[in-house]
Amino acid sequence: MQPRQSSIRSVSPADYQAFQQFLQDACGIQLGMGKEYLVSSRLSGLMKEVQVESVGELLQKLRSSVQSQLKVRVIDAMTTNETFWFRDIGHYILMKETILPDLNQSRGGTIRIWSAACSTGQEPYNISMIVEEYESKHGRGRPVTIEATDISSKVLAEAKAGIYCGLTVERGLTVEQQKRFFTPNKEHCLEVRPEIKRRVNFRSLNLAGSYHSMGKFDIIFCRNVLIYFSNELKKDIVDRLANALNPGGYLFLGSTESINQLSDRFDMKVGHGGISYRLKS
Ligand SMILES: C[S@@+](CC[C@H](N)C(=O)[O-])C[C@H]1O[C@@H](n2cnc3c(N)ncnc32)[C@H](O)[C@@H]1O
Repeated sequence: MQPRQSSIRSVSPADYQAFQQFLQDACGIQLGMGKEYLVSSRLSGLMKEVQVESVGELLQKLRSSVQSQLKVRVIDAMTTNETFWFRDIGHYILMKETILPDLNQSRGGTIRIWSAACSTGQEPYNISMIVEEYESKHGRGRPVTIEATDISSKVLAEAKAGIYCGLTVERGLTVEQQKRFFTPNKEHCLEVRPEIKRRVNFRSLNLAGSYHSMGKFDIIFCRNVLIYFSNELKKDIVDRLANALNPGGYLFLGSTESINQLSDRFDMKVGHGGISYRLKS
């Protein structure tokens, strides 16, 4: 919802430029020209709360070392967290019909999956639901764990809770899926069932930073987030995601995103209405 017009403050060109730089340094997000309205509308509530009159003053507060919590809140406000259940459904079908059978044919320990910009949790929980469906049809194969990361602490807290209300539930879930994978609570919201939650670990990670703590994965979902970054950063991220994959591992990007121009380390695999990128050996 947009704040009332009266609460929107104008942003001077100098403040806008400095804020663009701050955001790019903090999380890689590139704000194009003419997005002053977005900055002021997303930050006006926070600016009122911390009693600053301009984006320039907010930046000054951010520069003082004791204000790291403020930085978290600015990033929370500036990230776009749009997501919904079973977004780009072809990816999930491809995973269930082709990739999980393929991974289960090869011997090995735990299958590790990374949801690298998980927002409010729909993506990692959907991955877990697909694994649940796969296992109920084919029996337990290799165990599966899902690491779910995002830079925004606000969405991570919602994701961890795993409770969804109103329209959020309806966006992409059939009634049958609601019954199978959720339990209703007293507030008429739906909570993700423990058997779906148990595979998923949430933690904070900046995709523009290091992935050393993450280890190696068989599948990485990095969907609908690269669009916010510069071309240079996109290439760097895709290269480092490739390094984080086991040989022959799979990468999913958003259905409107393409790996062309970003990396030649993957083969494109098309099937079941989805595209995956397989790491070349
Ligand atoms: C549009 S949502 C996409 C969610 C989900 N992957 C999907 O496709 O539905 C983009 C997410 O990327 C996160 N994000 C933005 N910049 C990031 C960064 N530098 N590191 C990690 N996550 C970031 C945002 O907080 C947001 O939750």
